[in-house]
Amino acid sequence: MPRIAVYPGSFDPVTNGHIDIAKRGLKLFDHIIIAILHNPGKYSRFTVEERLEMLSESTAGIDDIEFDTFDGLLVDYAQKRKASAVLRGMRAVSDFEYEFQLALMNRKLNREVETVFLMTGLRWIFTSSSIIKEAARFGGDISDMVPPMVNRRLKAKFGN
Ligand code: PNS
Repeated sequence: MPRIAVYPGSFDPVTNGHIDIAKRGLKLFDHIIIAILHNPGKYSRFTVEERLEMLSESTAGIDDIEFDTFDGLLVDYAQKRKASAVLRGMRAVSDFEYEFQLALMNRKLNREVETVFLMTGLRWIFTSSSIIKEAARFGGDISDMVPPMVNRRLKAKFGN
């Protein structure tokens, strides 16, 4: 049986930190499904289609990664996709409380699905999609924090 993990998130947009987690996750799992939460109730800077495009271009050439979208409960999606684990990256202590809650709730909802955390690489410890969008909005140089096509898309989006 292949070991499959779902790597869920908003990916609005994907950052180098996300790519790092997905690549390292492939040392633990045979197949990783990067799954974008389709949540019409939450404002996103990029559409789901744009986010999928950026993800697929940013991971081109990496075998055993696929992309998908999901709605509803993550554990239901994981079970449907025959994934035994949810993969999440953990940056600083500030991430811990939310991640802990999420993991415990998911475990309560389905004990068959484990959560596996990977510590974000030190280079990406302060990298988040939100802070990158904020910097890009005001013309800041974030080119070493995101894949080149995401950098281009952010520039186009913010007109700089
Ligand atoms: O990148 P994010 O926004 O931190 O990702 C959050 C995500 C998508 C992992 C989380 O919101 C999620 O799994 N949502 C789906 C609904 C769900 O199952 N929530 C957890 C138990 S209530």
